Amino acid sequence: MARIVFDCCLVHKLGMATGMSEDIRRSVAGMLNRPIALIGLMGAGKTRFGRVLADALGLDFLDSDMEIEKAAGMSVADIFDRFGEAYFRDGERRVTKRLLDQDVCVIATGGGAIMDPETAEDVWSKTVSIWVRAPMSVMIERTGRNDRRPLLRKGDPEKVLERLAEARYPIYQKADIIVDSDSGSVDAVLLQALEKLYSFLLSRKDASGPEEERI
Ligand code: S3P
Repeated sequence: MARIVFDCCLVHKLGMATGMSEDIRRSVAGMLNRPIALIGLMGAGKTRFGRVLADALGLDFLDSDMEIEKAAGMSVADIFDRFGEAYFRDGERRVTKRLLDQDVCVIATGGGAIMDPETAEDVWSKTVSIWVRAPMSVMIERTGRNDRRPLLRKGDPEKVLERLAEARYPIYQKADIIVDSDSGSVDAVLLQALEKLYSFLLSRKDASGPEEERI
């Protein structure tokens, strides 16, 4: 524990000294040996942040909604309209399972994907999970920019998001790491994530004993 606290201080100093913190970035990229799965509510910034994180770590970025749309040949909204939510969830579970079996990469999961117990089990056991968390006001503003989220078309989007938050936050908070993605700079969110990833990976490495070099 003391080691982690010390290393966190070091990380802060490095971050301040090098701006983008090249050392942490390199350490995280070197220690990571499983996919990173981003979870969180619609509008939290999973896709935007996921791209930036993948880019910083030199990894591929995969977005489950985009993969579902590719496989179905239609938008998520059209799948909901034409076949209903249960059909979408079934496709989402299958596509997410395939993504979670990939080599090291960054995967943005749809906001509801982790509510499927099988998906949750895979995320907790096969990935480093990050809850991308944003204030409600930010998610309302971001999701209001377009009409792509079918669940938010039913009723007052703010109330829907609040209801989803109540049901899902107890699951999201089981993530290995929580990254706060507010309306601030994406570089600040990236640095925060790299610091937390570094501490997490280091603690897993320490916990795994002398034989196991990586998590
Ligand atoms: C959903 C979130 C959406 C998309 C679908 C349902 C949800 O993905 O999968 O509209 O249940 O929260 P994003 O979280 O990427 O917006």
